[in-house]
Amino acid sequence: MCGIVGYAGRRPSAAAAGELKSHAHGALDVVMEGLRRLEYRGYDSAGVAVLTEAGIDSRKKSGKLANLTAELAAAPLPEATTGIGHTRWATHGGPTDENAHPHLADGGRLALIHNGIIENFAELKAELLAAGAEFISETDTEVAAALLASVYRGEGGGDLALSMQLACRRLEGAFTLLAIHADSPDVVVAARRNSPLVVGLGDGENFLGSDVSGFIDFTRRAVELGQDQIVTITPESVEITDFYGNPASGTEFEVNWDAAAAEKGGYPSFMEKEINDQPQAVGDTLLGRSDLEGRLTLDELRVDPEDLKAVNKIMVLACGTSAYAGQVAKYAIEHWCRIPVEVELSHEFRYRDPIVDGNTLIVAISQSGETMDTLMAVRYAKEQGAKVLAICNTNGSTIPRESDAVLYTHAGPEIAVASTKAFLAQITAAYLLGLYLAQLRGDKFQGEIKDMLTDLAKVPAKIQQVLDNSGQIKELAGLMADAKSVLFLGRHVGFPVAMEGALKLKELAYIHAEGFAAGELKHGPIALIEEGQPVFVVVPSPRGRDSLHAKVVSNIQEIRARGAKTIVIAEEGDDAVKAYAEHVFYVPETPTLLAPLLTTVPLQIFACALATAKGYDVDQPRNLAKSVTVE
Ligand code: M6R
Repeated sequence: MCGIVGYAGRRPSAAAAGELKSHAHGALDVVMEGLRRLEYRGYDSAGVAVLTEAGIDSRKKSGKLANLTAELAAAPLPEATTGIGHTRWATHGGPTDENAHPHLADGGRLALIHNGIIENFAELKAELLAAGAEFISETDTEVAAALLASVYRGEGGGDLALSMQLACRRLEGAFTLLAIHADSPDVVVAARRNSPLVVGLGDGENFLGSDVSGFIDFTRRAVELGQDQIVTITPESVEITDFYGNPASGTEFEVNWDAAAAEKGGYPSFMEKEINDQPQAVGDTLLGRSDLEGRLTLDELRVDPEDLKAVNKIMVLACGTSAYAGQVAKYAIEHWCRIPVEVELSHEFRYRDPIVDGNTLIVAISQSGETMDTLMAVRYAKEQGAKVLAICNTNGSTIPRESDAVLYTHAGPEIAVASTKAFLAQITAAYLLGLYLAQLRGDKFQGEIKDMLTDLAKVPAKIQQVLDNSGQIKELAGLMADAKSVLFLGRHVGFPVAMEGALKLKELAYIHAEGFAAGELKHGPIALIEEGQPVFVVVPSPRGRDSLHAKVVSNIQEIRARGAKTIVIAEEGDDAVKAYAEHVFYVPETPTLLAPLLTTVPLQIFACALATAKGYDVDQPRNLAKSVTVE
C-alpha cells in the first residue's frame, strides 16, 4: 500500500541535458518515473516534494497520478537534485488534496511521506497540539511530520538522521518514512519498521523505493533493509543505522527483471499482458529445478532435508488469491506426500491459538512478500518454533527474508492489482514443493515424480492453447456486461479455482460473485438459483475419479432444473457436459491435480473482458492496492 520514491543525485537538469530529452533528468523526472511504476500500490492521490537552494517546493493532488502530472504541467516545480514522491492508498483520512502526501512541517522546511499506520498518532497529536503544532489534514502522517520537526528543533539538534532515529523510537505501528529538510541539501533520510523499503545503488546517485520498480529504470543494484533501520542517502553515500544510531547493514542483491518486463508490451493493460505472460511464468518457475533423471533439485531451499523429513504437518498461510493457491497445494501435497495440510488465512491464524511446533512446516505464500497479515503470521509461527518456507515472487521483500527458506516463483513483475500470473506460478511452485517432499521422504517412486514433472512441463504450451482460443469467452463476457450476480462452482481442485474466478470478477468488474464447493449447493446456496442466474461450473476431468465428474454433472443438472444459465469449463473430449450447458469452454487434457493451471485461465479472461466491456480500469480497480502492507 502506498508507493514511495526517494532520489539524491546529480542528473543534469532538463535544460543542461539538451539532446538527452527522452531520458529522466533531475530529481523530479526520476521521482515521477518511479511513481508511475509504483502507482499500482495505491492510487487515491499522489504528491512530490523537491529540495532546491531556495528550500522545499511540493505539489500534491487527489486521484490518480495523471492528476498530479497535470498539476505539475500547470504549476511546474523548479529543477532539483533531491526529491521524494508518494502514491497513496488512504488509511487515515479520505483521498483529498489535503490528505495527500508529502506533509510539510517546520514552517515548510521539512517534507515527509509515509506508508503504513502510526498506531499511537492520536496521543502524539494531542501532545503536539498542546505544544502549539497546527494540522491541516486528518492523517497520521502529518503527525509524524510534526513530531520529526519538533525533535529536529529540539534534541535532534538540526541533524535530520538523528532526529529520524529519535522520532521513530516514539512511533508505534508500521511505517516507512522518507524525509527531506531544506537545511540538508542532497540528503534523503528514511526509516522502516514493518513496512517495505529498498535502496537502489547508482553511480553518483542513490534511490529509495517501496520496491525495486521504483528505480528499475535507473539501476539493478539494490539493498534489502532490515527491520527498524534508518537509511540516509546522498548522491555519493548510503548509510544505514538502527533506531539508536548503531551502524547496521543491508543485503545487496541484483534485480533479476528488467524495466521492459514491467511495461505493457503492446497490450492495452497490464492485466491482459500478465494473463498472456502465464505460459512463461509457469515455464520459468519450473526452469532449472530438476535434473535429466527427473530428480528435483531445489538447492535454493536452504533448509536441512532432515528437518523436512521430520515434518508431520504443513500449514499454508496466505491471503486472497495466494490463499486459493494454497488450497490447490493442499490437494496435491496431501495426495503425494500423505502429510496433513491446513490452509489458513494469515489474519485468522494468529488470533486463535494455532497448534504449531518444531515439526510443523509453515508455507507462507505471497506474491509481494510484503503482505502484513502474512508477515505477522510468519513471525508468530516462528516464535512457536515452526519452520517457515516462503513461496514468493518478489526478491528482496520481507517475508522471504524472515523465512527459513524460500522458493521463488519466476512470474516476473506483476503490476495489475488483481493477481493472475503470480497465482499460476504459486501453484506451480507448490507442486514442486510437494513433489520435492515426496522425493525426499520416499512417498512416491522416482518414476512417478518424473512423470508428474513431464506433465508439468507440458502445461505452458497448454495454457497457450487456452489463450489462443479465448475469443469465445471474451465474446460471452461482452454479452454479460449487465449481469448483477455470477456464481462459480467447483469440486476438489476446482473449488479453489471457482473461488478465484469469483474473486477476479468482484475485483475487476464490481459484480457480486461467489465461489462455492459444488457439493455445498444443496446445503444452502442453491436457494440463490433463479431463472437466468449465470453459474460457471469447473468440471473435473472425466478421466480422473469417475465419481467426481459424475457428481459435478449432477450438480449442473440440479441448477439447470431451477433455471440457471450454466457456463461450463471442461476438459477437451468431455462431451457429456454439452447437454447441460449453455456454453462450454474446453481446456486441454491434463492430470486432475494440475488442472487449475488451465481451468483458471478462462475465468481470468472472462473477468478482464467483462470489466473492460463495462469501461473499468482493469489494472487499478477501485479501493484496492497491490500490496497490503497494513493489517
Ligand atoms: O502479495 P500477496 O500474494 O501476499 O497478496 C495477497 C492478496 O492481497 C492478493 O492475492 C489479493 O487478493 C489480490 N488482489 C488478488 O487479485
